[in-house]
Amino acid sequence: MPRKKTTLQTQSARTIQAFLVAIIALAPQLQAGTTPAYATHGMVVSQSGYASEAGAKVLQEGGTAVDAAVTTAFVLAVTHPSAGNIGGGGFLIYRPNTGLPVAYDFREKAPVAAHEIMWLDEHGKYDKNKHHNSHLAVGVPGTVAGLHLAWKQNGKLPWARLVQPSIDIARNGFPVSHGLARDLESRLKRFQPYATTMAQFSNDGKPYQPGEILKQTDLAATLTRIAESGPAGFYQGETAELIVAEMTANGGIISKEDLAKYNAVERKPIIGSYRGYDIISMPPPSSGGVTLVQMLNILEGYDLRKSQFGSAETMHLMAESMRRAYRNRALHLGDPEANPEMPIAKLTSQGYALELRQSIVPRKATPSSLIGFEWPHESDETTHLSVVDAGRNAVSLTYTLENSYGSGIVVTGAGFLLNNEMGDFNPAPGMTTEAGLIGTKPNLTQPGKRMLSSMTPTIVAKDGELVMATGSPGGRTIINTVLQTIVNVVDHQMNAQEAVDAGRFHHQWFPDRIQYEEQRFSPDTLQLLKGYKYTLKEIDRQGSAHIIVVDRKRNVLEGGVDHRRPDTAAAGY
Ligand code: DON
Repeated sequence: MPRKKTTLQTQSARTIQAFLVAIIALAPQLQAGTTPAYATHGMVVSQSGYASEAGAKVLQEGGTAVDAAVTTAFVLAVTHPSAGNIGGGGFLIYRPNTGLPVAYDFREKAPVAAHEIMWLDEHGKYDKNKHHNSHLAVGVPGTVAGLHLAWKQNGKLPWARLVQPSIDIARNGFPVSHGLARDLESRLKRFQPYATTMAQFSNDGKPYQPGEILKQTDLAATLTRIAESGPAGFYQGETAELIVAEMTANGGIISKEDLAKYNAVERKPIIGSYRGYDIISMPPPSSGGVTLVQMLNILEGYDLRKSQFGSAETMHLMAESMRRAYRNRALHLGDPEANPEMPIAKLTSQGYALELRQSIVPRKATPSSLIGFEWPHESDETTHLSVVDAGRNAVSLTYTLENSYGSGIVVTGAGFLLNNEMGDFNPAPGMTTEAGLIGTKPNLTQPGKRMLSSMTPTIVAKDGELVMATGSPGGRTIINTVLQTIVNVVDHQMNAQEAVDAGRFHHQWFPDRIQYEEQRFSPDTLQLLKGYKYTLKEIDRQGSAHIIVVDRKRNVLEGGVDHRRPDTAAAGY
């Protein structure tokens, strides 16, 4: 591919500037003809301009999509601290332009001292705080091992080169954006019990103001150890000692052995097909791929192009698909090593979709069942990035700390936030209540087990060519957000930005209701859905999808960034 001979710095700065202009010009709601970001060769879309730009520079230097994803993910750990991380975990789908796609699982694991009833107090009562807000809620982090494994198998540029931009930004600092300033201010109360967290994310106890410089020197030192030694710079030596000291001083159970034994895993992606498009998505311990493929299989039996975006008929058919697939998610899915018998082949088969389709009644909601329980708490702070390189190799990566800023605990001396992912395990055996808890077996806490996730990094291809990379944060809503970006592109023929901007909705079996984004659906449609006997709930926003779509006619990349959350950006060349 021909490349312009401008310096990387100038070229990249110009590209970013051009993209930011395009992004600011976009309206927040779906409007006909919203314009995506464009790039000819390679592109990164993520929740932070610094991260996307650093990733795009890697592409320009000849790095692969995986190289760029590694850099983008490390920079996000500095500039998007609510979800970008080295103390959490996630999933990466890689689709090389030729050859087989692969899934990398770097989900956190339960420490060896964890057990099924650890979330109950001495009287056998469920302790939500322990489950979600304590040193016990921290799973053994997977991000560093996962990024390194994906790089070892598919990277080209040196590891240290890829980590360096994150070190520079952590050490020199970066100006706090309006979005980050507001976010940090709203979290200060939660950070208060943790002196190290307050020291890192406040300005002497006062909220950072937009434009003030946030430096993270301990984090820079940890990232330097990772740059120099790879995973050993995190899972062994000084970083490991600091994590274990943090744990032992505060009632946590992650040991040196847990860290030393952590392993990221290469898995076979879940592969589905939708109207001739290949759907390549994440297998368990993510529930994403299996649930997404079930919903698409059901929907393939209907002409959604004809029933159109946002009509009551389309929303009804999609909500009924969601209801059925989310029921199976709750009953069957968990860590694959702990649940070797999961009926994945059946759940993702066309025959099963036909069966499910037959139970869908036109213009009438199916009541979700007798069991009127609510779901347990699940936060909605995670982050997704998509990368396509000049060879049309693609990465879709979603990773998380679980809650916004995870446990809120920064490891003293190491400068990074720890996840509270243990909260994604079910609370206790059999504890399924109307008040909001699910105690089904496949996802109960066990030593060394990975907790079930909804993160759904996904790549779509057709006739051997890349079509799109998509994914989103949003807890359980993730799978439905990803579903809607795919339906928007494949059925409604939207460009990348339109597909991201379009209004979203969500049904998850229980609670038995559709939640929908305010101001994005016609009141007439909502009225019709009420007539079909749906309970409706208005919410302000759902997810934050960052997608890349290939305009195959022009061989151009379209970036769709989500303005539902601040600081998002596409960068490319
Ligand atoms: O793995 C999961 O499904 C959750 N821990 C993800 C949480 C999440 O998406 C928060 N996002 N905004």
